[in-house]
Amino acid sequence: MSSKLDVVLGLQWGDEGKGKIVDVLAGRYPAVARFQGGPNAGHSLHFEGHSFVVRSIPSGIFREGSTNIIGNGVVFDPVTFREECGNIAKMGIDPKEKIVISKKASLILPTHRLLDAANEAAAGKGKIGSTLKGIGPTYTDKISRNGLRIGDILAPDFKEKFEKLKNRHLGQIKALNYECDPDQGEKEWMDALEFIKGFKLVDCEFFVNEWLEDKPMLAEGAQGSMLDIDYGSYPFVTSSSTTVGGACTGLGVAPSKIGRVFGIFKAYCTRVGSGPFPTELFDETGEKLRQVGHEFGAVTGRPRRCGWLDLVALKYSVMLNGVTDLIMMKSDCLDDFDTIKVCTEYEVDGQRTSRLPFDISNGIEPVYTEFPGWKSDLSGIRKEEDLPESFKNYIKFMENYLGVPISIISLGPDRDATIER
Ligand code: IMO
Ligand code: MG
Repeated sequence: MSSKLDVVLGLQWGDEGKGKIVDVLAGRYPAVARFQGGPNAGHSLHFEGHSFVVRSIPSGIFREGSTNIIGNGVVFDPVTFREECGNIAKMGIDPKEKIVISKKASLILPTHRLLDAANEAAAGKGKIGSTLKGIGPTYTDKISRNGLRIGDILAPDFKEKFEKLKNRHLGQIKALNYECDPDQGEKEWMDALEFIKGFKLVDCEFFVNEWLEDKPMLAEGAQGSMLDIDYGSYPFVTSSSTTVGGACTGLGVAPSKIGRVFGIFKAYCTRVGSGPFPTELFDETGEKLRQVGHEFGAVTGRPRRCGWLDLVALKYSVMLNGVTDLIMMKSDCLDDFDTIKVCTEYEVDGQRTSRLPFDISNGIEPVYTEFPGWKSDLSGIRKEEDLPESFKNYIKFMENYLGVPISIISLGPDRDATIER
């Protein structure tokens, strides 16, 4: 009997806590695979007194005996990858033993990063608030059929292909009137490519399908559904499919092989970068969420925008992904609030709706349902029966609204601060 590919996805605007949950679940999966995104992701892990942020490496890396796959849907920066490998090697882990990389993954060139910066500078007030890791330009080249892939680094004419693409980028950068050193980061990048050659570079689609013949695998999404290129708050999105279909295209796996879909959400909302955010709070409640939740970017250090939980958007994400299991993060950050609000409808042009409109950037008035705060410390609780009654009611309400059970509740960053139901 063949095994399934289960998928972990962020359901909001990223930063839901995917790293922690993948690390928790990875004890049950001998392999974890990233299928989209790149070093724009910052997945934080905390265990046994250690803290890590992984960017392109799957969050299963710290589990003994795990195989970690970087799939073909990923955009890959050899320099950040080498840095990450250096950090995990300090933990006594040999990255070359545990990581395999798809030959079909796209390469982020140093000039992709420059182009990202040039595009953002040219966009002025309309900028996306990109992480400036070269993500958008690399996916653009992939789709326009100009990109380079990991497998190309083994070809004898790689240097020529590189120069051709680099020159193309320099032309684009010049057209945007962006000043930069054209060779910035190139030497380091070339050195890092040599480092990559020491890894198992695989035909990911065969590797994954053969693996699934007798062993399960967990796919680790990056970003979140509201940043999806098709269904997110376009154009303020990332450039990949962050929804469940991305796992199929990004790993070469058929939809029939997908098993459980774990959808992760925070008990409130955050967003980093520009773009619409209907429940954003600009008052001291927003500031309190930021402070209590340590809502500062793991990749860029930017303060995250904070607001109440948006169930209209969340229900949309649950639908898009066919979520089978919900995972709620950071409810412990709401311990000290007298009243907790969740947005259950939008008011648009005087009409109430629970369907996400085409344009969420203007004219939306969130309609809130209020809950009395539990006003007690959840962070030490490890058993469901010890949870306060008001918190249990809050959970029941959300399960009813979303139509999917919440099977894991996380009450702190550590691996152990987790209740499974
Ligand atoms: P993880 O996996 C939160 C946001 C950026 C920007 C937009 C586009 O840690 O949840 P990009 O660099 O992709 O062109 O930026 O998407 N963004 C994220 N926000 N978490 C992430 O990843 C993100 N990756 C990209 O802030 O608004
Ligand atoms: Mg992040």
